[in-house]
Amino acid sequence: MIDRERAPGTDERDVDVLVLGEVNPDVIVRGPDPRPQFGQVERFVESIDLAIGSSSAIFACGAAKLGLRTAFVGVVGDDAMGRFMLDALRARGIDVSACRVTEAVPTGASVILVDGGDRAILTAPGTVPLLRDEDIPAALLARARHLHVGSVFLLDALRPRLAERFAAARHAGTTTSFDCNWDPRETWDGGLRGILHEADVFLPNAAEATRIAGRRGVEDAARALAAAGPRVVVVKCGADGAIAAERDGALTRMPGLAVDVVDTTGAGDSFDAGFLAAWLAGRPVRECLAIGVACGSLSTRGVGGAAAQATLAEAEAAAREAGLLA
Ligand SMILES: Nc1ncnc2c1ncn2[C@@H]1O[C@H](COP(=O)(O)OP(=O)(O)OP(=O)(O)O)[C@@H](O)[C@H]1O
Ligand SMILES: [Mg+2]
Repeated sequence: MIDRERAPGTDERDVDVLVLGEVNPDVIVRGPDPRPQFGQVERFVESIDLAIGSSSAIFACGAAKLGLRTAFVGVVGDDAMGRFMLDALRARGIDVSACRVTEAVPTGASVILVDGGDRAILTAPGTVPLLRDEDIPAALLARARHLHVGSVFLLDALRPRLAERFAAARHAGTTTSFDCNWDPRETWDGGLRGILHEADVFLPNAAEATRIAGRRGVEDAARALAAAGPRVVVVKCGADGAIAAERDGALTRMPGLAVDVVDTTGAGDSFDAGFLAAWLAGRPVRECLAIGVACGSLSTRGVGGAAAQATLAEAEAAAREAGLLA
C-alpha cells in the first residue's frame, strides 16, 4: 500500500486538510412547485432553510465528519450570513481562525429552488472571489498534510496564483487537490491546465470534465485530463457513481449507491471528502472511489449539503452493504 499517511519529515503536521475557498450560505426553497410568480403573487412553499452552502465549506464539513482535522481559509462579510457560516464550521470542529472578515463586501449567498431532483440557483458572489494567495498564513500551511481548493472557477483572485501555490506545496511535501465546479463564464480554461499540472487529485463532474478536456466521452475526458499531470482524476457521474483515471492510464469505474434522495446539493463535495479521506489514508483508488460514492450518496438524505454527511464508519458500512467494498 502506498503510504500517504505522512509526508517525509512532517511528523509535526496536525492539520489533515487545509481547505481554501468560498464560505457562503444557501437559502433552500423546497417545492412542491417552488417556481416564483411575478406580478407580486405570494405562494406557499413546503420549506425555506438557511443551510451551510458553497462547495469548499460543504467539503470541509464532510472532511471533519469523516474524522479529518480540518482548517479553512476563506473570506466573509461582516454580516449575519458570514457569522452564520463561521459559527457553523466552528461547531463542526473546523479551525476557521484564519478566515478574513471584510467590511467592504457582503458575504456571498445562493438561493436554491429545489423541484424534485432538479435545482435552480441564484447566486450573489459577494465575498466569494476575494480570497487571495496572501490570505493563506504560512504557519497554517506548514501544519497541513493536504491542501484542497473548491470551486476554482469562482475564486478569481486566487486562481492565477494557484498553480504556483500547488507547486510550492508539493515541494514542501503537502499533497493537493481541487474541484473546479461549474464555470459561470463557460470558458473552461482560467489557467486550469497549469493548476492541473501541479495537482495530485482533480475532482470534476462529468459535464465539467468533458468541457475542460474538449472530449465527448467521460472516460476519454478522464484519461485526457489525467495525462495533463495529476496522479488521479476522479469524474463524478451523479446517480451513476464515478470514474477514476490514473496517470499510468488505469481506469476504475464505481457504480452509484441507490438511496432515497431528498436533496442532491453538495453531493459532489461530500464525495470529494470521502475520496480524499480514503486517499490520504493510503487506500487503493478503488476503495477511495467506493468511500467517495457512499459519502456522496448518503449526503443526499437531507436538505442542504452538510445536514446528512456520513461518518467513515457509516460510509464503509454502506459501501460494503452495496458490494462496493470487500
Ligand atoms: N441522484 C443520486 N442518487 C444517488 N447518489 C447520487 C445522486 N446524485 C449524486 N449522488 C452521489 O454523489 C456523488 C457526486 O455527485 P455528482 O456527480 O452530482 O457530483 P457534482 O456534480 O460534483 O455535485 P455538486 O452538485 O455537489 O457539485 C455521485 O458519485 C454519487 O455517489
Ligand atoms: Mg461539483
